[in-house]
Amino acid sequence: MSAQTDEAVLETRRLSKYFGSVIAIKDISMLVRPGTVTCLLGDNGAGKSTLIKTLSGVYEPSEGDYLCDGEVIHLHSPRDALARGIATVYQDLAMIPLLSIWRNFFLGSEPTKGWGPFRRFDVKKAKEITRDEMGKMGIDVRDPEQPVGTLSGGERQSVAIARAVYFGARVLILDEPTAALGVKQAGVVLRYIVRAKQRGVAVVFITHNPHHAYPVGDHFVILRRGQVYGDFAKADLGLEQLVQMMAGGAELENLAHELQREAGDDAELREAVAVLEQEVKAVAAEPVVVERRADVVSDEEGRPEG
Ligand SMILES: Nc1ncnc2c1ncn2[C@@H]1O[C@H](COP(=O)(O)OP(=O)(O)OP(=O)(O)O)[C@@H](O)[C@H]1O
Ligand SMILES: [Mg+2]
Repeated sequence: MSAQTDEAVLETRRLSKYFGSVIAIKDISMLVRPGTVTCLLGDNGAGKSTLIKTLSGVYEPSEGDYLCDGEVIHLHSPRDALARGIATVYQDLAMIPLLSIWRNFFLGSEPTKGWGPFRRFDVKKAKEITRDEMGKMGIDVRDPEQPVGTLSGGERQSVAIARAVYFGARVLILDEPTAALGVKQAGVVLRYIVRAKQRGVAVVFITHNPHHAYPVGDHFVILRRGQVYGDFAKADLGLEQLVQMMAGGAELENLAHELQREAGDDAELREAVAVLEQEVKAVAAEPVVVERRADVVSDEEGRPEG
């Protein structure tokens, strides 16, 4: 249909996913557009992984609609998602450390030459493509024979991103690609995210870190306890605001745990813990209201708990 660039490639409408009585995500509505970076932020347990697993065909939603190019779709596996150009790069990368860069690049989809009994893997071409594609993403691969295991974490993520883009990803979902990386390596990955975007890919970038999200993001979706807590275009959101929104729950909670451990019999410290815990509760009680739905709870089936 229309090739307008501001048309959403993916859309969710009130998407929900339940695991028994656990509400992992609830009523998530969002748009993902070509040539933009959509950042998905949220604390531990906010529902980020569940949402992207639903987008990438690992889970089928319990409720709501999932649209691709304006049409409702039903994905039954990650393969279905890939067929539509929706590729996901997970943190544990599905690469083989002892194999070379070019072998990893073509893992499962080797270019061949000849046909019939003469069909064979075209090694020279594979190496060329690997070098070219990495070059387009701004990485200079000196030796495609180098084992992937000798690359830095950031470079390895970049191979995975370049590979997905080469094999036709229109949507690239990255699950915390910078979480385990130092500042410099994270910078490498952020640069590829921008490169992919410049090539027209719709990038969905999952992260805890507002300092990684803000510089590259065009659009920010903040999840809290399974729901959309905020949805902002960059023009409407400052870095400080984003940091503040992210700092809420988790940090306070960690601080409270930490203090509790230290407190022992110290009355004053115990009081400080109590104050912090109040604050954690206040943050948690903020706008999000998640109600259990009677029709998804399995109690009626008379299943015993535990
Ligand atoms: N397979 C499952 N079965 C039951 N509950 C689940 C399942 N997967 C996720 N959950 C629950 O759903 C909620 C959201 O989890 P999810 O993993 O999506 O969060 P997250 O934002 O990715 O967290 P993190 O930052 O820790 O990776 C959590 O309360 C989690 O315990
Ligand atoms: Mg997760």
